[in-house]
Amino acid sequence: MGSNNEIKVTIIGTGSYLPEKVLTNRDLERIVDTSDEWIVTRTGIKERRISSPEQAASDLGTEAAKNALENAKISPEELDAIIVATITPDMFFPSTGCIIQNNLGAKKAFALDLNAACSGFIYALAVAYSFLKAKLCSKILVVASEVLSKITDWQDRNTCVLLGDGAGAAVLSATTEKDPPKQILSIFLASQGEYGDLLNMPAGGSRIPASVESVKNRLHFLKMKGKEVFRIAVISMLEAARRGLEMCNTSLDKLKLLIPHQANIRIINAIGERLGLSSEQVYVNVDRYGNMSAATVAVALDEVTKSNKLNRGDIVELVAFGAGFTSGSCVIQW
Ligand code: UT7
Repeated sequence: MGSNNEIKVTIIGTGSYLPEKVLTNRDLERIVDTSDEWIVTRTGIKERRISSPEQAASDLGTEAAKNALENAKISPEELDAIIVATITPDMFFPSTGCIIQNNLGAKKAFALDLNAACSGFIYALAVAYSFLKAKLCSKILVVASEVLSKITDWQDRNTCVLLGDGAGAAVLSATTEKDPPKQILSIFLASQGEYGDLLNMPAGGSRIPASVESVKNRLHFLKMKGKEVFRIAVISMLEAARRGLEMCNTSLDKLKLLIPHQANIRIINAIGERLGLSSEQVYVNVDRYGNMSAATVAVALDEVTKSNKLNRGDIVELVAFGAGFTSGSCVIQW
């Protein structure tokens, strides 16, 4: 593939951080009118992690980042850029990226935030990949950090049982090596802005600034029309998974492992079945963490990496879908 000095992009380290506090379905039975049985059968979720009142996205993200830097065996000073995917930034500005840059002491790095909701980690990988390919940078930290518990309406059983907090990170590096491990082969991104109203947080921005009224009307919480989102999530992730493989001329039968966004086990199973994959070929951790938006795929990638179950050359594909709507996929050759 290409000339000897062609830039390739590889993942040289991954990390994650999950808050200690576990919230089980039984705990939720005491908060809203729900049951462990309903949550498990309709979503596959058994428990999720919840951050402490003091913890913000940068706190979780910094821990995940340190873990990834350690795994990559590089120091923060070696980073040229930090890209943070989040829909729950510490505040509008400064960016959570700049806060994490300061926490790490990554003095040389520029930093930015990116909002692509649950597809955020894949979108951030795409931005990092482009900077590296364009030789603007040689090492980039990608962080996906979410504290969804802080924008969750704990009176709304339609959404509060689904969400959780966590952070994942990856260090990407440019190389001219001929066949480097954990090489990104393709990235596919798509957006369908016409569906914005199906999944959003209405207030707090410039459309509906914070006011006594907006707080009273519970507009600072995540709102979702679950049924409609479900249907489009399946279609969009299937399309993204197929397009990502096509882009690097890889057929489905070569796919070793699919790492899908973890919103609902029924969505994950529907995608796996329609792609003809066995259950061993589809990674699942939704039972332990629920939906952590952008952090979901990042945490799953870290778990897969550290499990050491994959072999050199295996083809792995990340695929995600989220508010926007956004979707995307990323094919990695281990
Ligand atoms: O991360 C980005 C993308 N997000 C997603 O992909 C999420 C997509 N959507 C979903 O995962 C599912 O649509 C949900 C899990 C949100 C809902 O599952 P569903 O099978 O679509 O259920 P439903 O909305 O059709 O609700 C069925 C019933 C309703 O009662 P009625 O109207 O039939 O009497 C709900 O009120 O279940 C009720 N219900 C609940 N019951 C107990 C809704 N939430 C709960 C609950 N506990 N927590």
